[in-house]
Amino acid sequence: MRDFEIGIIGGTGGIGRWFAGFFKGEGYIVHITGRHSGMSLDELARTCRVVIVSVPIGVTLDVIAEIGPMMRKDALLMDFTSLKEEPVQAMLQHSPSEVMGCHPLFGPDVTSIKDQNVALCPARVDRWAQWPKEIFETRGARVTETTPKRHDEIMAVVQGLNHFNTIVMGLTLRDTGMDVGEIEKFSTPNFTTKLAIIEKIFKTPRLHSEIIIRNPDIARMLDLYEKNLSQLKRLITEGDIEGITALLT
Ligand SMILES: NC(=O)c1ccc[n+]([C@@H]2O[C@H](COP(=O)([O-])OP(=O)(O)OC[C@H]3O[C@@H](n4cnc5c(N)ncnc54)[C@H](OP(=O)(O)O)[C@@H]3O)[C@@H](O)[C@H]2O)c1
Repeated sequence: MRDFEIGIIGGTGGIGRWFAGFFKGEGYIVHITGRHSGMSLDELARTCRVVIVSVPIGVTLDVIAEIGPMMRKDALLMDFTSLKEEPVQAMLQHSPSEVMGCHPLFGPDVTSIKDQNVALCPARVDRWAQWPKEIFETRGARVTETTPKRHDEIMAVVQGLNHFNTIVMGLTLRDTGMDVGEIEKFSTPNFTTKLAIIEKIFKTPRLHSEIIIRNPDIARMLDLYEKNLSQLKRLITEGDIEGITALLT
């Protein structure tokens, strides 16, 4: 067994549960909590040298404000939130401990961390500066350290624009009134992949709404999207094949 214990607030579900399994596999004792299960936050902070917040985005700041002051100075407070600026700021503000933002860039459906991307935002670290990076890299993850601001700017593209685009496609598909079962019989491999992505995003609507709406840089992405949509619509309506070809070249 390792010489310290890990607590995951929100470890009963989703990505928190996935990492509870991961850390247990690495030999750690892991304590998980949910709204109605597990240790009290006070006991968690006393027992665990590393505490990770992995709750829905909308309640993350409240949970950080509650656990933060209970943390020891020599402990590490981390979070798995898909956005980093506000949670990292809140951890720095409310906790005397070391602070590291973390965003695993995958969901709980993967079988291994190998070849997956993980973003880390070291915010106030000393003795804990290397531990998260080392444990993820040892198992083959690709770890990138960045600032919360740069992380959120990039997530405006990787998640905000990407999920928004998928949602537009899904809603438009729904509005066609076509039967998906029938469409599937005519699907190309490319379209089958797209249908699977739409299904995945529509399965967790709350998470994806929060990822889009709470991103500080999403407005710029929507403006660019709207500009390109209008331009393409005009070129298609005008039958301007040369225009679209030139645009894509
Ligand atoms: N899912 C992903 O693909 C993914 C990937 C990377 C990062 N993230 C981030 O990870 C975080 C969690 O997302 P998730 O998708 O794993 O969520 P989830 O599946 O809804 O699980 C949320 C967890 O938080 C607990 N919880 C809910 N409300 C709570 C509250 N008010 N106080 C304390 N615990 C509460 C739940 O426990 P009970 O239900 O037992 O109460 C559950 O264990 C989010 O910040 C998200 O941005 C998610």
